[in-house]
Amino acid sequence: MAFTFFFRDLHTIELMVNHVLPTIAGRSVVRIWDAGCAMGPELYTIAIVFSEKMGYFGFKNLKIDATDLDENNTFGSIVTAGVYPAEELSRIPREIFKKYFEPEGTPGQFRIIESLRNRINFRKHDLLSLNPIGSEYSLIVCKNVLLHFTHEERINVIKMYYDSLAPGGYFAMEQTQTLPSELSSLFEKVVSDAQLFKKK
Ligand SMILES: C[S@@+](CC[C@H](N)C(=O)[O-])C[C@H]1O[C@@H](n2cnc3c(N)ncnc32)[C@H](O)[C@@H]1O
Repeated sequence: MAFTFFFRDLHTIELMVNHVLPTIAGRSVVRIWDAGCAMGPELYTIAIVFSEKMGYFGFKNLKIDATDLDENNTFGSIVTAGVYPAEELSRIPREIFKKYFEPEGTPGQFRIIESLRNRINFRKHDLLSLNPIGSEYSLIVCKNVLLHFTHEERINVIKMYYDSLAPGGYFAMEQTQTLPSELSSLFEKVVSDAQLFKKK
């Protein structure tokens, strides 16, 4: 259920970053929520793509809230430590790997650099509680999570995302998910080849 890997669906991640960037120019704080982040690979991929496109100073304004049900209380410490075995990092382009990972001390283990780790705030959170964790998000990413919910639950969770987004904020799901038709008045689909939506 927590299946995830680095640089998964990079196409959607690059599209969402490209859409969000023009809307956040000049902001002193930019909030992102990765809902259902599992052990962190998707979350750190998003952070790396933002860092690459924003540059060092812009990236310092980014705050990423990472949440997961984390049933076994294991993801929080993994996400916070940002340490992963080399075999999980093999998809990462060489130059990116050298820039954002450093040897951890244990052979075969690498740690995400601190300037990325300190942008992340992990919290244990059940999406089905329908309690938003914050507001004014420029981007909410919820990939490969909603498929586990009923149609009704999906509608309620996506409505919560709508309320948590800043005006004109973006919401992204995995390629295989579609927006329930009941919510079509809330979001506008912004590209044909990814499930990326802008709050109306
Ligand atoms: C397949 S993983 C997806 C990880 C990541 N988003 C990705 O696409 O690579 C699904 C995650 O959803 C989380 N999840 C399932 N039900 C949840 C709920 N009610 N609230 C929060 N997270 C939940 C699971 O714990 C799991 O980590």
